[in-house]
Amino acid sequence: MAPMKEDYKQLIGLANEARRHAYAPYSNYTVGAALRTKNGRVYAGVNVENAAYPTGICAERVAVFKAISEGERDFEVIAVVTDNGGSPCGACRQVLSEFGLDTVVLIADGNGKLSMETTVRNLLPEAFLPGDVKK
Ligand code: THU
Repeated sequence: MAPMKEDYKQLIGLANEARRHAYAPYSNYTVGAALRTKNGRVYAGVNVENAAYPTGICAERVAVFKAISEGERDFEVIAVVTDNGGSPCGACRQVLSEFGLDTVVLIADGNGKLSMETTVRNLLPEAFLPGDVKK
């Protein structure tokens, strides 16, 4: 495999550092995400759990919602880091798809080892997209 791009390594490092702030007392499964926009800004996110379990939210969506709320909508790449290199859930894939199928998704483990480099398009075939909402 070709060596990982230096900027991808950095983004994975940021996602991994963000995990320190994850609030995951129920699952103990900490997730960190780092989303870079085409303007070069980076938004970190962590999973935030809740005693009322379904009200918690994933790290990827926190990162996306932070970016959107700061006026950034053009995404380039998102790094997602967990202990075991787990893959983004379906809800997060759907939220990412709203803002572009070409966003690169880097999935890595707690040692920074890349388990997958892919795109939202690959992770969510036949996505339900903005144009599918009929008025
Ligand atoms: N989690 C994420 O943050 N991102 C994902 O894509 C998968 C799951 C979180 C949700 C919950 O806090 C914990 O991981 C266990 O499911």
